[in-house]
Order: sequence, then C-alpha cells, then structure tokens
Amino acid sequence: MKEKIQQLLDAEKKIKLGGGEERIAKQHKAGKLTARERINLLFDEGSFVELDKFVEHRCTNFGMEKVEAPADGVVTGYGTVDGRLVFAYAQDFTVLGGSLGEMHAAKICKVQDMALKMGAPIIGFNDSGGARIQEGVDALSGYGQIFYRNTIASGVIPQISVILGPCAGGAVYSPALTDFIFMVENTSRMFITGPQVIKSVTGEEVTQEELGGASTHNKVSGVAHFMDKTEEECIERIKVLLSFLPSNNLEEAPVFDTEDNINRIEERLNEIVPVNPNKPYDMKEVIRLIADNGYFFEVQEYFAQNIITGFIRLNGKAVGVVANQPRFLAGCLDINASDKAARFIRTCDAFNIPLLNLVDVPGFLPGTEQEYGGIIRHGAKMLYAYSEATVPKVTLIIRKAYGGAYLAMCSKDLGADQVFAWPNSEIAVMGPEGAANIIFKKDIESSDNPIETRQEKIMEYRNTVANPYIAAQRGFVDDVLVPSMTRPRLISAFDMLESKREGRPAKKHGNMPV
Ligand code: HXC
Repeated sequence: MKEKIQQLLDAEKKIKLGGGEERIAKQHKAGKLTARERINLLFDEGSFVELDKFVEHRCTNFGMEKVEAPADGVVTGYGTVDGRLVFAYAQDFTVLGGSLGEMHAAKICKVQDMALKMGAPIIGFNDSGGARIQEGVDALSGYGQIFYRNTIASGVIPQISVILGPCAGGAVYSPALTDFIFMVENTSRMFITGPQVIKSVTGEEVTQEELGGASTHNKVSGVAHFMDKTEEECIERIKVLLSFLPSNNLEEAPVFDTEDNINRIEERLNEIVPVNPNKPYDMKEVIRLIADNGYFFEVQEYFAQNIITGFIRLNGKAVGVVANQPRFLAGCLDINASDKAARFIRTCDAFNIPLLNLVDVPGFLPGTEQEYGGIIRHGAKMLYAYSEATVPKVTLIIRKAYGGAYLAMCSKDLGADQVFAWPNSEIAVMGPEGAANIIFKKDIESSDNPIETRQEKIMEYRNTVANPYIAAQRGFVDDVLVPSMTRPRLISAFDMLESKREGRPAKKHGNMPV
C-alpha cells in the first residue's frame, strides 16, 4: 500500500507541474501566471478540489500517442470564493499551448454540467492556442459542446470568462456567450482571425494587441466588460463582481451589513445639476452620493460612456444602475449605449437584481451613421429589455427626459414600479429649443425681434410643459423629490418592492430585436 500511495503522490506531483519547469518559466517570463496559480488566487485558501486530473487525450494522429499532456491541458474543479461554492476551469498554456482537444473539452463540459446542477457560478480562465490541430473534428465538436452548455446555462447561473492569453478563432464564442468577460492589458488577446490572416485577405496591418487586446475590446468593440493591469487585480475584481451576484436565478444576491446611514441626507445633490440645462456634470458623482459607502462597481466602464452601467448597494442590497452620462454625447442614447444598457438590464433581470434608472437624456443621437447602423433595432432592445424585466424597477428623472429616450430609460409605461423626479427635471416630447422652433415658428418669423421672441417662447415652453409636475399630475411620476432626500426615498422604495411578483404570459421565448 505504501508503495501505491507513493506512486499516486508522484503522479499527482507530475500532473501539477503541467508542461514542466521550463514551460512554466516561459509562462512567467511572458508576464502570465500558470493555470494553477490563477485557481489558487481565486479560491479561498485550501478550498479548491481538482477533478479529473488523471484524464488523458486519446489522439494517435501525428505521433500524438507519444505525447504526454498532463490533465490534458486544463485544470477543472470547485471550491469556495468568500465562502460560496464556485466551479472553475483554467486552461494550462504550458501543456500543448492549452489547446482544446476531445478530453480537454469533456473536462470543461463536466464542470459546466456540475455548476448548472448545483446552481453555482462558473468561471473559465482562457489561455489557449485554440482547437488542438492534431485532433481535428473532435476538437471542433468539443467547442460546440461547450457553446451549447454556455447557452443552456445562460440566465440560470452566472458565467464569467477570463481571457489571460490567446483566445482565437471560434474559441472566442464561449466567452461571448457568457455573462461577463475580464481581460488584462498586454496579456489577453481575442480575435476571430489573427493579424496574418487579416493581412493576406484585406491587406490591413495590425498588431495582436491592437486587434484584440484588452483596450480594444473594452473601449472599441464592447466585447469585454472589465480591464485590469495585472492578473492579480483582475482576479480580485472577479471576487467583487461575484459579491453582487446570486449563485443562480432562484436565489438573491448576498446582503451585506452597511455602516452607511440609510436616512443619509446628501445636501450636495441639491447643487450637483448645473442651472444651465446644457452644462454637463458627472453622473457617477450622483451615483456615489446615493450608494452605500459611496461605492460603485462599474461594468463596461470604457465602452459607450454616454451610458453608465454597474452595481451599487442600497441598505446592503445589490442594485443594478443604468444612468445617462451628460459628460459624453450629452447623455444621448446611441447604438452602442443601447446595446450596453439592454444587455445589462437583462443580466440584472435574469439574476433578480433590482434596477435603478437615473435619467438625464436629451434623446437618441441624430445622424446617418446611427440610422444606417440600425439605431431603430438597437434602441428597441432597451424598450424590450425594460418591458420584459420583472425585477423591481425604480426610475429617477434627474434632468432631461425627452421623447422616445424618456420611454427607453424605463418610464412608468414600460413598467417602472416607482418613478421619481427632481424639481428641475424636464419631461417633454423634445427639448424646449427644438419644440419652440416648431410650434412657435410663425410667431418667431413674424416677430420684429426673432431672437428675443425665440428666447421668450423657449422659456414659455419650459415653464408650461417642460417640468415634472404635468407628469406627476397624471401619475407618470409618483413623486417629486428634494434631491438631498433621494437616498432614503430610494431605499424605502426598494424595500417596499422587495416582495414584488409580476408574471408574464407563457411563451417559448420572446423575439428580442438583435
Ligand atoms: C496544438 C498547439 C496549438 C494548437 C499551440 N500549440 N497552439 N498545439 N494545437 N492549436 C502548441 C505549440 O505547438 C507549442 O508546442 C505550444 O503549444 C506553445 O505554442 P507556441 O507557438 O510555442 O507559443 P507562442 O509562441 O506563445 O504562440 C502562441 C500561439 C501560437 C499564438 C497561440 O501557438 C498559435 O498561433 N497557435 C495556433 C493558433 C491557431 O491557429 N489555432 C486554431 C484556431 S481555430 P511545443 O510542443 O512546441 O511547446 C480554432 C477553431 C475553433 O480554434 C473553432 C470552434 C468552433
């Protein structure tokens, strides 16, 4: 027995070394951690249990029968993160470049199935040369099986992808099917076709980093949600994200004790909106002043910055925030903002996270670029996502709420459970300037002093129509708030809405515009 135990321990030791000391050193030299180091950073100390470490590939093509691939290039298992059950897999680049073959895929599928059955989040660390070339269609089939499971688990358990190396070709579609993608500067690479193929097909010259680095996917394409400088910071951020999410769609997100006063009056909110309606201010400051301990965890911080998405806590409970940002494009909704917001709204609704919508929106961004790009179908996603969502929805109109964008930011008609407005807010079909030009056109043109008349008519429109009281008279706005009193009122509203139940007609699934 002693001998057998020693054999087992030796085998385990060898497997844990992955591709060996030399390749580990190469991985470190490239500024990357190994699969097991990543797993160790994520999980509570000593809690990770590795599964299937003795799995081996079965390929015999191209001399593969002689090739050893410890754990077949992927570490899989479960453990706890801040005491909660989490499943994970981490591709091991030191073993055949983390390439995905039949058994590598089977291991990932097994933890995907287990996470779904147990109702626990799954986190995938991607660091791979893609489909294992020697294994051909078996490798492709493996990807297909992972994509299928990503889709079946979507909206049931949180799925998080971490890109910490190459992730190319069809391999990118597993992360794309998950809820959140994390990337690290100068380490992560995601693209469908690499620089060489692009050069041969289109003649374009582009580096790997420019094509598919963290900055590109966080700022330009909107594929990724988070970007960090180091793997350590990235893994810490994953833990914070998990703290805002329930383990599955039948549970609530964890509740924390807050030291912040739930009745906190915030005088700064009375002055934060400039008197001049065309002057910007930082909506993130508003969010922080309302949130428990001023903490805001932003999602997709660098993409479509005209809309803000992220999580705060109110009285210790997670709330998803969707807010217009007047500092970018005056807070207009455009194609990217609509995509970003709609996706976030659906994520919150899937995982029982209430929504707070902070509105200061002058409208949809005008222009042929937007129209040709399909702002109609993209903007419709927001209407769809808000109407479909059954979680508590609270809307606060901070300043402008014009036209279709007023509706798209979750008006009463789209099912907002509570709508509040600050006293300076303007709810109207369009901004006073545009409205005056149309309905007072004749008065302005026939006036001896058209400029002065126009200004008078703008003021007349603003005073008569563009205020929150007409909407409040009709019940579209439930209450007009003194801004400094916002936090206690929002907490009260979300507490009242906690037992909300709202059904939808039975259907296979809706047909959201995409
Ligand atoms: C088998 C692979 C491999 C792969 C890398 N390796 N990718 N083995 N299949 N796909 C092996 C290498 O042979 C090498 O083995 C080791 O991993 C490390 O690779 P290096 O090339 O030395 O590393 P590096 O210089 O860092 O380059 C990394 C790389 C490059 C950029 C990822 O390896 C590469 O271009 N690989 C091929 C990428 C690719 O085209 N994959 C297919 C994509 S299409 P040794 O023994 O020498 O250490 C795809 C389809 C999916 O994935 C479809 C799903 C629907």
